[in-house]
Amino acid sequence: MAVIMEPWRQILLPLIKTKIMSETGKPISRIDGRMKVSGKATYSAEFNQPNMAYAFPVRATISKGKVTSINDAIIQKEPGVITIISHKNAFRLKPLDMQAQAKAGAAFLGENLPPLQDNVVHYPGQFIALVVAETYEQAREAAYKLKIVYAEEKGAVDFKTELPKSKKPKMFMGEEAQVNEGKAAAILSTLSKKIEHTYSTPAEHHHPMEPHATVAVWESAQKLTLYDATQGVGLTATIAAYFLGLKTEDVRVIAPYVGGGFGSKGLWLHTLIVAMAAKAAGRPVKLALTRQMMQTNVGHRAATIQRVALGTDTAGKLSVMRHHTDTYNNLTQFFEPSGKQSLVLYKAPLREVTYNVAMLNRSTPTFMRAPGETPGTFALESAMDEMAYELKMDPVEFRIKNHTAEDPMKGHEFSSEHLLDCYRIGAERFGWASRSMEPRQKRNGKYLVGYGMATATYPGGRSAASVKVVMNAKGDFTLMTASIDIGTGTYTVLAQTAADALGVAVDRIDVKIGDSSLPPAPLAGGSQTTASIHPAALDACVLLRKELTTLAIADPDSKLKGKTLEEIGYANGSVFVKGDESKSDTYVAIMRRAKRNEIEACATTLPVSGAGMTVPSALCTPSQTPPEQNSDTKQYAFHSFGAQFVEVWVDEDFGTIRVKRVTSVQDVGRIMNEKTARSQIIGGVIFGIGAALMEATDYDKRWGNPVTRTLADYHVPVHLDVPPIDVHFIGKPDPHISPIGARGIGEIGITGVCAAIANAVFNATGKRLRDLPLTPEKFFEV
Ligand code: MOS
Repeated sequence: MAVIMEPWRQILLPLIKTKIMSETGKPISRIDGRMKVSGKATYSAEFNQPNMAYAFPVRATISKGKVTSINDAIIQKEPGVITIISHKNAFRLKPLDMQAQAKAGAAFLGENLPPLQDNVVHYPGQFIALVVAETYEQAREAAYKLKIVYAEEKGAVDFKTELPKSKKPKMFMGEEAQVNEGKAAAILSTLSKKIEHTYSTPAEHHHPMEPHATVAVWESAQKLTLYDATQGVGLTATIAAYFLGLKTEDVRVIAPYVGGGFGSKGLWLHTLIVAMAAKAAGRPVKLALTRQMMQTNVGHRAATIQRVALGTDTAGKLSVMRHHTDTYNNLTQFFEPSGKQSLVLYKAPLREVTYNVAMLNRSTPTFMRAPGETPGTFALESAMDEMAYELKMDPVEFRIKNHTAEDPMKGHEFSSEHLLDCYRIGAERFGWASRSMEPRQKRNGKYLVGYGMATATYPGGRSAASVKVVMNAKGDFTLMTASIDIGTGTYTVLAQTAADALGVAVDRIDVKIGDSSLPPAPLAGGSQTTASIHPAALDACVLLRKELTTLAIADPDSKLKGKTLEEIGYANGSVFVKGDESKSDTYVAIMRRAKRNEIEACATTLPVSGAGMTVPSALCTPSQTPPEQNSDTKQYAFHSFGAQFVEVWVDEDFGTIRVKRVTSVQDVGRIMNEKTARSQIIGGVIFGIGAALMEATDYDKRWGNPVTRTLADYHVPVHLDVPPIDVHFIGKPDPHISPIGARGIGEIGITGVCAAIANAVFNATGKRLRDLPLTPEKFFEV
């Protein structure tokens, strides 16, 4: 009888049987998958507590001004109402103090506005009160009855109107924001081959499937537990502790499962407000945001207007690149860093990257999946296509000609870089050779068919992280770190790394993450989780195995007695003498004879120099770390690269664009799990299709409030919008990022996709669309 196997099984099963293949890299399914699909995985809003009350927030309906009165005394008498908090009576938080916050590791509050501390309104949708009641319905009903009187002022709500008043920020996250300002013009004026165009991108919202929610429980007057939908339990604990005036170790944040974040799940004000409400009510309180609140209270990607100029010599070598971004902000330092990739890609003697940021009375911009590179690669990679067309050069050839193997700003060699392979393999897999230079050459029935491509890139950092591993007397292992799985596969790949390092099956490993009381780890952001926690996980497991081996070789009853560590191998939960596997000893027997119930080990990953995020304190000191963790990181630049190829079909009568297939080739270092990695890239590409064709948040021009408030009017791709996506990994380990060799993978998949689609539309139709999203009406405006 023929057995039909998934293709990966056909290849891998023989390898697994002959033990050639290790656990790492295997495309195993998520170990938490069954929990999730059977509803057993508990998300933040599901941590119901005895005697728990429910909260519903009230949001500002003006863009700027002051709250002059609230009828809270009357509403207090509504059925079920326990308390109403507002600026009048709210717990006094520690005021903003950037230096003190940075020192406490609490720099990244979502917005620089400790909530309910005064009556000032800065943007529509700002939280101005919170009703706590016995039931959710009672809280909502009372909240709707709360009458707020404002002294309204005229807000700055329209981006384009405010642009002339915008300012030039000096810094972006510790780096100079304005690079070579004003230097490109002189060179551009001497060149005959050049282009300059303006590209624009709209405001976008993250919209993870799981809306934000917090359950706050005061264990005592000074001890707080938060069940919070967050990308970083440690981050949330640190920031909440800072503003509430508690010790960091007295705030415990728990988030075992998180249903997507994409940058929106840092610490936002609702988390602080619900903690304040629980204190006021003297009871645990739950606050679950509605989908509408996710448009105003948990960040978004700001719109950008980007002007890109490129100039080359007559042979097509770039002489100069200029990338200017106009964007906006409200009260934070963050702004959309769309120029980032223009400091990393291509060899050009001069690049000028600058920003202007307007201040708006609009809800707060923040990090959103591939912050900077998502809108930035749309502009730069569209411009590269336009320049290639100007030069009558194939767009892939043009990029190859201008490839750089080193960071063009710092001059450091990339730690591991295979972008040329991405172009070559991508072009082959996609069938790029059949593309014609001139547009409008391919048809399929009434559809115009076009091919487009773009470069993908995202930094590959590594932050500090600690991981502890414990073995019990039965030979089961528990891996512990305060990391997070936001749907990426953290649980699964950690188990794979540990299984390999310990020589046991994946199902002997229990992974505990999502709890700030565990050894510290960075937030799941900046595509850094795998690179940060796996070196520590590997080292902790190696340390534990060494301890077991040391016990065995000192034990007269062990067949390993008197051997040296170098002579010992390990597999299947036992250690053995290399070359004579009959001389072996199981981990369990070693523990039993040593009369140990538990053995544990802990290790810490050191941060790569220059990486933005570090954990404030490490449970185990780096000195315990074995030397495998190299620290030769100062001389390399860490970046991931890729190439995106797409085919589009355009209906000229209706202006509709269909993405028909995508090939995404990624150079992200070693692949820890072929299946979860592939899902990450597919997810990124779909994010890119959404950004290219449909996603946009529209704001009312009078008050600056979002009018696209639900998933019915904020459009995201559905299955029919998503074509077959061919993902290929170069898979070469990065020898410098860590002994594991894996860089981050969460964000690069989206980069380049918007440009590849717009470039394909040009190839299909001869129309160059430079304003996202490419909705049908834009097609007729050109
Ligand atoms: Mo990502 S935008 O760093 O969560």
